[in-house]
Amino acid sequence: MLKYRRTILQAGAGLLVAAPWLTWRQALALTPACSGEPTARQIEGPYYTPQTPRRSTLIDGLPGDVLVLQGRVLNTACQPVPNAIVDVWGCDSEGEYDNTGFKLRGHQLTDAQGRFRFETLMPGSYGNSTFRRTPHLHVKVQGPGTPLLTTQLYFPDQVLNLRDSFFNPDLLVKWAHDKSQALFDFVLPVQAKG
Ligand SMILES: [Fe+2]
Repeated sequence: MLKYRRTILQAGAGLLVAAPWLTWRQALALTPACSGEPTARQIEGPYYTPQTPRRSTLIDGLPGDVLVLQGRVLNTACQPVPNAIVDVWGCDSEGEYDNTGFKLRGHQLTDAQGRFRFETLMPGSYGNSTFRRTPHLHVKVQGPGTPLLTTQLYFPDQVLNLRDSFFNPDLLVKWAHDKSQALFDFVLPVQAKG
C-alpha cells in the first residue's frame, strides 16, 4: 500500500498546485462532524490510471457542469491528516473516461489542516439497460503510514442511486450553497503504533 504513495509522490514531484484555500473555509464549516468511523471502501473499477498529475483543477477545457469537491482527510480520532494523497478520477458528463490521458484525473496533498479541494465536472452515468452506474467519483486516499483507501462518492437525489448495486448512502457528498460544491470528509484508520 505504501508503494502507492511512493509512486504517486514521484509522479507529482516538482509540480505546483494552486491553493485557493481562502475561498472554501466557510463551506467547510458545513461539513458534518467526524463520526470516527473509517470511510467505507469500494472497488477501484476498471478505469484507474496511475501516476496522475498533481493539480487541483481537473477539467482541461471539457464542457459540463463544474463541480467543486472539497473536504478534509481525518483519522478515526477525528484529527486532520496532513500530506495525505487524495487522487480523484471520474467520467465526463457523457459518461466517458479519458483512458489515454489525464482529463478529469489528478491528485493533491492535504494541507496542515487535512484539507483538499478539486475542481472537476459533475459526472454523468454510464452503462446499458441492464447495468447502469449512477453518477459517482472515484477516489484513492492515503495518509503517511495509513492504509490505502479506495472508494467512490455519490450525489444526493440522483434517480439512479437506488438502482446501482454499488451505491452506499454513507458515501453521499453534502451540497454546500448550491449543487456546484460537494463536501466530503474521508476518515482513515489511525496508524497502528509499534
Ligand atoms: Fe466509475
